[in-house]
Amino acid sequence: MNELNVVVDAAKSAFAAAVTPADLENAKSLFLGKSGRITELMKGMAALSVDEKKSRGASINIAKQAIENALTDRRRALADLDLQKQLQAEALDVTLPGRQRGQGGLHPVSITMERIESIFGSMGFEVAQGPEIESDWFNFTALNTPEDHPARSMHDTFYVEGGSATAPNLLRTHTSPMQIRHAVQHVKHYRSLASDAQANQELFSGDMPEIRVIAPGRTYRVDSDATHSPMFHQCEGLWVGENVSFKDLKFIFTDFCRTFFESDDLVLRFRPSFFPFTEPSAEVDIQFQSGSLAGRWLEVAGSGQVHPNVIRNMGLDPEKYIGFAFGMGPDRLTMVRYGVNDLRLFFDGDIRFLSQFQ
Ligand code: DAH
Repeated sequence: MNELNVVVDAAKSAFAAAVTPADLENAKSLFLGKSGRITELMKGMAALSVDEKKSRGASINIAKQAIENALTDRRRALADLDLQKQLQAEALDVTLPGRQRGQGGLHPVSITMERIESIFGSMGFEVAQGPEIESDWFNFTALNTPEDHPARSMHDTFYVEGGSATAPNLLRTHTSPMQIRHAVQHVKHYRSLASDAQANQELFSGDMPEIRVIAPGRTYRVDSDATHSPMFHQCEGLWVGENVSFKDLKFIFTDFCRTFFESDDLVLRFRPSFFPFTEPSAEVDIQFQSGSLAGRWLEVAGSGQVHPNVIRNMGLDPEKYIGFAFGMGPDRLTMVRYGVNDLRLFFDGDIRFLSQFQ
């Protein structure tokens, strides 16, 4: 093998041994660099004759070309290898299932609110909404609650800025102010349709359709433990007409509870109680006859016959109109329905708890 072929072979094996681009550049300089083997061979031609230079030069150039080709091939091979490695490292497993966005859902108490609205809606009740920042008048005075009633104290009621000393503003402590707000609007409307004599009477005793309304919403009290939260929910109900009686209240409330809990195996008890805005007043307790809660009386609402003073504050003549009202706790209904024993779970916002109701 001639001397040039030996050099070319040496270059080829040096290039093949290079595993990184830096190795390859080093190997290249051994052959093609300033003092590389090919350059040395070129320098060695100085002493040759012109003819000899021609043929020797041509042979060296062929060798040099062969080395350069080998270098280019190896460069490409190394670049390919690098790309392969990168592709492998960044490989995507297209068979993995995609990540989905979590699906939202209603809060359990909202589910209860919607159930209450749809059940009472099916019994001909309207749904009314009212302000959470309420005046002292609607929250207490109009509901026949005396000035010195303990619920007015700072301990139970959150007072807020914006009212006056004689008419403070507060966060409503119950949804009962909606009885007055809704009834006043209702009466105003039918008063405007009545004859002059009727329209001008202080207390309306003309004709009007019955008031049948529920008012669900948020309420606030300074209270916090396993069964009380400073913010909680209530749903007020009001039924005012000329021929309504406790019997009607008992009927619709029994029907409501049985529909809500999807159980006919449930009895109600009206236990005498006191509320300033009703007379007589009763707490409503329910008892399941079977299942894990069987035999226990569970308090679910307050109720009563609307006090004549409250009927007057609605603008109605208590000699003609009689009303029945109730106020229930949707939080408590939700706890009973789902068997949850700590109210605070509803308001902690823990997705692991809340997602179980979807
Ligand atoms: N507002 C009462 C409370 O927060 C509940 C209540 C009781 C509402 C009797 C009523 C009612 O409408 O008639 O405790």
